Amino acid sequence: MIQRPKGTKDILPEEIGLWQYIEEIAKDIMQNYGFSEIRVPVFEHTELFQRGVGGTTDVVQKEMYTFNDKGERSITLRPEGTAGIIRAYIENGMASMPTPVKLWYNMAMYRYENVQKGRLREFHQIGAELIGTSSFEADVETICMAKRMIDRLELNTVKLNLNSIGCKSCRAEYQEALKNWIKPNLSKYCETCQSRYEKNPMRILDCKERTCKELNHGAPKILDYLCEECKMHFENVKKMLNALEIDYKIDSDIVRGLDYYTKTVFEFVDEQTGLTVLGGGRYDNLVEELDGGVPTPAIGFAMGVERIADMISKQKQIEQKKPKLYIAQIGEEANIFATKLVEELRNKNVYVVKDVTGKSLKAQFKYADRICAKYVITIGETEINEKMVILKNMVTGEQMQVALNADDIVNKI
Ligand code: HAM
Repeated sequence: MIQRPKGTKDILPEEIGLWQYIEEIAKDIMQNYGFSEIRVPVFEHTELFQRGVGGTTDVVQKEMYTFNDKGERSITLRPEGTAGIIRAYIENGMASMPTPVKLWYNMAMYRYENVQKGRLREFHQIGAELIGTSSFEADVETICMAKRMIDRLELNTVKLNLNSIGCKSCRAEYQEALKNWIKPNLSKYCETCQSRYEKNPMRILDCKERTCKELNHGAPKILDYLCEECKMHFENVKKMLNALEIDYKIDSDIVRGLDYYTKTVFEFVDEQTGLTVLGGGRYDNLVEELDGGVPTPAIGFAMGVERIADMISKQKQIEQKKPKLYIAQIGEEANIFATKLVEELRNKNVYVVKDVTGKSLKAQFKYADRICAKYVITIGETEINEKMVILKNMVTGEQMQVALNADDIVNKI
């Protein structure tokens, strides 16, 4: 038997109700905040992620599904959504749209991860990108929208953690201080950290290796190195969040795993499992870096749908939609009659089921029971002649006579 590849998941019919529940809440909230949905290709030129996400990140160094296509072009399955969306924004001239441009997406992502709880190789993100403004109000609105999703999904153990990682200029000073602090112990760090020391020392703070984590205790904090503008921006974000009574914790260890971030970064973390269910931040240089043109600041986030679905499934059951009516039938004439009747009822938007396999009457009743149909009617020669049928409520056992036509049946169910 061929099995699904490691790190992938089948989303089965019994789980789909939960997925649709999450997706509908997300869509509803995104639309109310003025975001329009966008869908971009599953694969892009590898260079997009190397330049966009950053050559020293785990995602680019270790986790991309990269291959040469038949035309010898290097292609990569998208490991995240932001780079592809910014490529689409530039390529489709969206800069000429009214600012800010607000886009949301629900897409599968691919990362060659070490598979473990909450870490898959194919996973889904619902995300949002607000492009074209550097205002702190945009940060606040984005965080508010993310928080609203967490609240509507009733994820009460998920808390907001906030940090600022500054801009290019204040970060340069910080990175020097960090490097000087790390230098005496550099040889004790893991190989990956050592390789990042020169090009991207902040990534060392995000290393999951126990030894590196211990070595990092007491490292200088980026918040102490913010330039006046970044400091003011962060103060304003916090002030507005306070005014909105949105709880948050400052976590100076948040550096995020992707290189494009600047200033405000945030993560919504489940306190029970320690898993981040939603992460995001400002990325003021990405558009410019990809198209070499006009500076276009932006901010966004993405939430991990599998992680959210997993949390909700432990807390409550999302009921699958059940058939309103099952039409059982016996005999050839009744079969034709019932086939016409189900189609008439479907014209009236009723969820109705009729046998299409030639089951016996007994087997039809058993099937109606298994699919949890709320009502059942049984059509035979007598019912057709008398134009009346018994409508049975399968939940209460109650029975009543109704006229055998779509209008009368709809009125009684
Ligand atoms: P990220 O932090 O890499 O950010 O991913 C966002 C969320 O996707 C994570 O918080 C997590 O819930 C989920 N996720 C990530 N990797 C996996 C995995 N291997 N298995 C299951 N779930 C996973 C980004 O991708 C950015 N593009 C977010 C963003 C948008 N920033 C600005 N705009």
